Amino acid sequence: LVDGILPRRIAGEPVLLYRQKNGTPAAMFDRCPHRFAPLSRGCIVGDYIRCGYHGLTFDAKGGCIANPLGEGYIPETASVRAFPTEEKFGLVWIWRGDHEKAEPKNIPDLSAFVPGPTAEFKTAYIHVRADYRLAIDNLMDLSHSVFLHAETLAPVTPGLRDAVVRVSRNGERIKATIEMKNIDIGDGERRDQQLDTEWFAPGVVALTFAQVPHGELLGNEAIHALHIITPETERSSHYLFGSTVDGREGMTRDPFVDEDEPMLAACQERMGEEDFWSLRPVILPNDAAAIQVRRQLEKMIRNEQASQSLVASARLLNVINQRSIE
Ligand code: FES
Ligand SMILES: [Fe+2]
Repeated sequence: LVDGILPRRIAGEPVLLYRQKNGTPAAMFDRCPHRFAPLSRGCIVGDYIRCGYHGLTFDAKGGCIANPLGEGYIPETASVRAFPTEEKFGLVWIWRGDHEKAEPKNIPDLSAFVPGPTAEFKTAYIHVRADYRLAIDNLMDLSHSVFLHAETLAPVTPGLRDAVVRVSRNGERIKATIEMKNIDIGDGERRDQQLDTEWFAPGVVALTFAQVPHGELLGNEAIHALHIITPETERSSHYLFGSTVDGREGMTRDPFVDEDEPMLAACQERMGEEDFWSLRPVILPNDAAAIQVRRQLEKMIRNEQASQSLVASARLLNVINQRSIE
C-alpha cells in the first residue's frame, strides 16, 4: 500500500485502502452512500476520501465530514462502513467483522519469517482464478512439484517423489514437513534437504527450504518465503509472495504464474459451482496437511457463525425485551 487509493475486492466486498497523512492505513467499503459511486474513483484529500461523483467527503472512520455543494447539508445517513486495519510485518491487515471483535492479537506471528515488525517487506502480487482454499491446498501438498513443476522446481528437490510428508500441529498452526536425506541433485555432492510449509489461519503459508551437505545439521541457511492468500470472490483470490530479501519475492513466482495458477484456475473451472466436499475428492496420504487445514478452517468458520447467531439472537432478545417493557 503506497500512495493513492488501492481498490480491492475482499471476500466478495469492494473495499478501498489508503494511507492517511501520518501513514496510518485506513480501509472502507468502496461505495458512496449517495449514488453508489466507487469511492476509489475519487481522491485522497488530506486524511479524507472525496467521492469523484458529487464530492461527498469521508474520514477514515467512514463518517461524512463535508458536502462541498450548495449549503453543505450532510444527512445523518451519509456514512460508509470503515474497517479496522493494523499494519504489522510489513502487511496491512484488515478486519471485516464486528468492530468490537477486531483483535490485533489474532494476527499470525510472522516474526520468525520477518526480521522486525517494521522491516521492509518485498512482495509480488498475483491474481488467482481459484478459491483461496485451492491455493492453500497447493502449498500444503508440495508433492505436486514432481509433476506440475517437472522442468522448473522438481530438479532441485529430486527426493520429493519418494518423500513422506509429516504433519505437525502447534495450536491452530499446521505444518507439513518433508525431509529428503542423502540426495544427489546432479552435481556429484550429496545433500540433506528439508521443506516446511506452515499454515497460519486463515490464509498465510510460510515456506522454508533448507539444504546442507549430507550429514550436517540443518540450520540457519534456510530460505523463507511467505505466501499470503486473501479470498477475492468465491472463485478467485489475491496472492502475495513476500520476502524481506531483495529479489526473493520473485523466486517462486515464475513457476507459480506459469504452472500453478493456470492449474488452479483449471481445477476451479472443473469444480464449477460445486462445493469441494460434495464432489467427494479422493484423499491421498500427501494430502494430510491440506485436509487438516480445511478442517480447521471449517471449524473456525462454524465457531464464528455460531457466535454471530448468538449475537444476533441476543440482539433479537433485546428487541423483544424492550417491546415487552414498552
Ligand atoms: S455518488 Fe458520491 S457524492 Fe454522489
Ligand atoms: Fe507449485
